[in-house]
Amino acid sequence: MQAVKITDKVYWVGAIDWNIRDFHGYSTKKGTTYNAFLVLGEKPTLIDTVKKEFYGEMMARIKSVIDPKKIQIIISNHSEMDHSGALPQAVAEIEPQEVYVSAMGMKDITAQFHQDLNLKVVKTGDRIDVGGDTISFVEARMLHWPDSMFSYLEKEDVLFTNDVFGMHYATSKLFDDENEERLWLYEAEKYYANIVLPYSDIVLRFLDQVTKMGLSPKIIAPDHGFIWRKDPAKIINLYAKWAAQAPKNKAIVLYDTMWGSTEKMAVQITEGLRQGGTEVKQLSMHSCHRSDVATELLDSSALIIGTPVLNSGIFPAMADVLCYLKGLRKKGLVGAAFGSYGWNGAPVDELTKMLEGMGVEVVAPAIKSLFVPDEKVLASCRDLGLTISQKIAEKLK
Ligand code: FEO
Repeated sequence: MQAVKITDKVYWVGAIDWNIRDFHGYSTKKGTTYNAFLVLGEKPTLIDTVKKEFYGEMMARIKSVIDPKKIQIIISNHSEMDHSGALPQAVAEIEPQEVYVSAMGMKDITAQFHQDLNLKVVKTGDRIDVGGDTISFVEARMLHWPDSMFSYLEKEDVLFTNDVFGMHYATSKLFDDENEERLWLYEAEKYYANIVLPYSDIVLRFLDQVTKMGLSPKIIAPDHGFIWRKDPAKIINLYAKWAAQAPKNKAIVLYDTMWGSTEKMAVQITEGLRQGGTEVKQLSMHSCHRSDVATELLDSSALIIGTPVLNSGIFPAMADVLCYLKGLRKKGLVGAAFGSYGWNGAPVDELTKMLEGMGVEVVAPAIKSLFVPDEKVLASCRDLGLTISQKIAEKLK
């Protein structure tokens, strides 16, 4: 296992998780990487570690360029276990003089490992000498955890951003200029939609702060996916676009179905949206993953949701995806609910309440069909699609 040179002094010493397909409920169809970085100099410094199962891979890569015992400093930018999981082993083997974390990082890592890891707290503006260069720290609270922190290697002009600007994308080609945009763009967007979206206001404020600080690093090195060395502005501009959540003439019709009745309604709502000139994605939870639904929702302006009634409740797959989407707090949506039932239609109305709970502007009462929808119900579904199209058009004026 070899380290990969990023600059004369900075090496990638992370791990590639080719086959992970579920990352705490997010479908990672292309795997991921856990990026860790080694800064060489008079005080060799390790920035972040990896998921604990990949400790051996990280250490092998470190050993390809330096005796790990020579590492004097470890920086842990983020305490989620895919980056801090190997920290106790690394501290035990390397015995660094200092382990730097944010204040919340101290709290989190202490609560995770319950052992003395010789942690020292740093805050925004603090700078440490790493022997021939300086690392300064910028706390990035809630991007995406309270402990999140960036580290900036000043002379080399490399900004280590932890999760931010990353993507779940396993690749042996570690740099942006080695990867084709058509292959990675969806994965970057999916990562933003599923991990960063709830903190979009903070992203916008943070990008503004970084601009005012005049920070324009030559290289951005996140802890997932590849390293931005050719065009770091590319991912910064994409984040600015995604965080703005500007409305687009696009809607999602999201549903599940038992015997096809709710699907018949979904088809007609989709048709109404199409006739209204709205781009639409009709997504059945029978075949879609919640994290792909979240990705489609990122640039959508409407969410129309449907369920059959099962055991006097909404369909379990709909409860799952709506719980997930609620946490992502997408802004600016209009929507409505629909569904079919046999003897108790009340659960379909629950969907309307769930939309309201998500902050969606509900434009019409739920459309309910007793068993199989007749032509009258299907016509009302088409009308709902048209109504929502018109509502989106008004918002786009
Ligand atoms: Fe990649 Fe928040 O961990």
